[in-house]
Amino acid sequence: MIDLRGRHLISPSDLDLREISSIMSLAQSMQQNLSSYASLCRGKILATLFYEPSTRTKLSFESAMLRMGGNILGFSDASTSAVSKGESIADTIRVLDSYADIVVMRHPKEGAPKLAAQYSRVPLINGGDGGHQHPTQTLTDLLTIHMYLGRTSHLKVAFCGDLKYGRTVHSLIETLARYPGATFYLISPEELRLPPRLKEHLEQHSDCALIECRRMEEALPAVDILYMTRIQKERFFNEADYLRLKNSYVLDSDKLAQAKAKMLVMHPLPRVNEIAYEIDSDPRAVYFKQAELGVYARMSLMAHLLGVDGL
Ligand code: NCD
Repeated sequence: MIDLRGRHLISPSDLDLREISSIMSLAQSMQQNLSSYASLCRGKILATLFYEPSTRTKLSFESAMLRMGGNILGFSDASTSAVSKGESIADTIRVLDSYADIVVMRHPKEGAPKLAAQYSRVPLINGGDGGHQHPTQTLTDLLTIHMYLGRTSHLKVAFCGDLKYGRTVHSLIETLARYPGATFYLISPEELRLPPRLKEHLEQHSDCALIECRRMEEALPAVDILYMTRIQKERFFNEADYLRLKNSYVLDSDKLAQAKAKMLVMHPLPRVNEIAYEIDSDPRAVYFKQAELGVYARMSLMAHLLGVDGL
């Protein structure tokens, strides 16, 4: 196991590929032999600071810590914390790191976890900041891809939906681009295209190919992975725009019939309308398994950042 003790995780680029691979291999071993890690974090406390709603991220972090024998505390509604009295993030973190050994923070403002990390004496993990980054979803996604396809390089991946505000997309695409031979199909309405700065970054710093499409059919027959995302109502300023765009892309059996027999359908969840329920029983639909693997990815990450003994 590579030593990541005391480190923060704000963006996936905080980890090099060797470090990611160390997290993946421990996560796989945790999945195969869960009970042998049941006391790994005994005496450790995870604080979950969720300033924005979450089901999977928060609960999978909590489950991950509990499955390693540790404890959890935190809030999921900032209105019940001193934040509602006007407390700054810096002050919250300064105190909290004496109550916990590791912290995960989700915040609607981009950059909030980065700021918090500057004040934190314990490892701080970004659990999603606005429309920016979501590094632990990326670890979850990589683990899923690795387990089903056996590789993370030379992949053709279609990202579909809200590529502008979708932080899961930003983090995953940036990370997959660091492996050789990636081709990305970017399927979105005009208004929700991948941010130009991210596109430029990919073009300058990786060998990936980027193909922009308007229709799913243009990419479906070619790809190894279809990564669907929700059109994110909460990031729109204007309800009318959301209503106009919300059903832009819906994956149903007719569309899936055009895909490879071994393609993976992934989704960070929650889904709204973008994947028809009829797809759930197709062997290519791995989004619920993906959510399950998120627990192992987060167990392994926390074990690494805490530098716990016994590995
Ligand atoms: C995603 C998120 O919060 O960014 N969900 C998640 O973490 N599993 C995607 C979303 O909310 O659409």
